[in-house]
Amino acid sequence: MRTQVVIIGAGPAGLLLGHLLLAEGIDAILVERASADYVLGRIRAGVLETTLTDLLHQLGIDERLNAEGLPHDGFNLADGERLIRIDVAALTGRHVTVYGQTEVTRDLMTAATERGLQIIYEAADVTLHGIEGDAPFVTFRENGVPKRIDARFIVGCDGFHGPSRQAMPAHVAQAFEKVYPFGWLGILADVPPCNHELIYASHDNGFALASMRSNTRSRYYIQVPLDEKIEAWPDDRVWDELAVRLGPDVAGNITRGPAIEKSIAPLRSFVFEPMRHGSLFLAGDSAHIVPPTGAKGLNLAASDVAYLTRALTAFFNAHDNDAIAQYSDRALARVWKAERFSWQLTSLMHRFPGTTPFDRRMQMADLDYIASSTAAQTTIAENYVGLPL
Ligand code: APR
Ligand code: PHB
Repeated sequence: MRTQVVIIGAGPAGLLLGHLLLAEGIDAILVERASADYVLGRIRAGVLETTLTDLLHQLGIDERLNAEGLPHDGFNLADGERLIRIDVAALTGRHVTVYGQTEVTRDLMTAATERGLQIIYEAADVTLHGIEGDAPFVTFRENGVPKRIDARFIVGCDGFHGPSRQAMPAHVAQAFEKVYPFGWLGILADVPPCNHELIYASHDNGFALASMRSNTRSRYYIQVPLDEKIEAWPDDRVWDELAVRLGPDVAGNITRGPAIEKSIAPLRSFVFEPMRHGSLFLAGDSAHIVPPTGAKGLNLAASDVAYLTRALTAFFNAHDNDAIAQYSDRALARVWKAERFSWQLTSLMHRFPGTTPFDRRMQMADLDYIASSTAAQTTIAENYVGLPL
């Protein structure tokens, strides 16, 4: 087989890129290790920047998003005594949309079938070849049969554990990582949200987040120790701790119910440079990971894909090599600013082992400053809605 671009990974980044290239008349084939059902089963967050929703509107893959997405003009920081509302609409003129990122993936998959975007699922032993030349190819096994796809470019959208980043020669690569000394226990329940907007809480016991998927389905998180076992957290204990950490004014609005999903995930900050080498590009989680505090994961994948689509379109349709040469630097500039915001909000809102009373007072003073400063709130707001491309 031959195509113009092989995309490794059919998660949200790969699917979004495939659709955008198709819309530009650029042939692409996606090669995905897992089944479509497995991809849909990934637990994902639920806040979309306009960086992403604009692309979905542009593609016309927004019918459910328009019908079910919840526009949010603000969110809240809780310090144990009050809610500090960050009015992102008033401060930035923009908003975010609450809509499950799993639903984004589902919509992209449905549109792929309707539009003839070629996706090969359950591809085994996907291997990259010839990335330092201009005739790279990918080999894999489909139903046990060896296959090969030749292309002009390969894009690694294969997530944190995929092969693309590993294919980058060690002498050009540099990785930056911070692993946080705690995790997030997440619970999904078919109960109405406790607040119409998200609440990020900083409490002496630790961080908590009240989010949602719809007006009838809630998503909550609490910070737990890295070695915590899910068995130690029966539903009632989770609900009790959420009531404590979200504060007395919110606790009374929490509707309890059985968890339909409950899991613990670690937090890390990670960036891999460069995001291009020869004929290989990286986009999304294959190149960077953020702690979920700032809800930047999928939104950063969207900006990578937006930059890469412009670059590949210039190359194939205008014979312009400049944009592909600039891709890595341009994408990384936005990645690092989102990494900074995610690290800063994580540092502000979580309890770190070994925190001294002075450290805690610094966190409380930071929150008190934010409560009293339009400038501080504007800084948070412009990062939360997403910095411009
Ligand atoms: N061969 C082919 N496909 C692979 C391989 C491989 N060897 N390894 C991984 N993949 C596939 C995975 O099965 C997955 O479907 O690559 C895809 C990567 O998808 P994600 O991990 O979801 O990464 P990405 O598409 O970059 O999504 C970015 O979405 O919901 C958010 O928080 C999430 O930050 C993440 C963001
Ligand atoms: C979620 O709804 O899953 C969610 C929302 C905001 C975050 C992280 C996760 O910062």
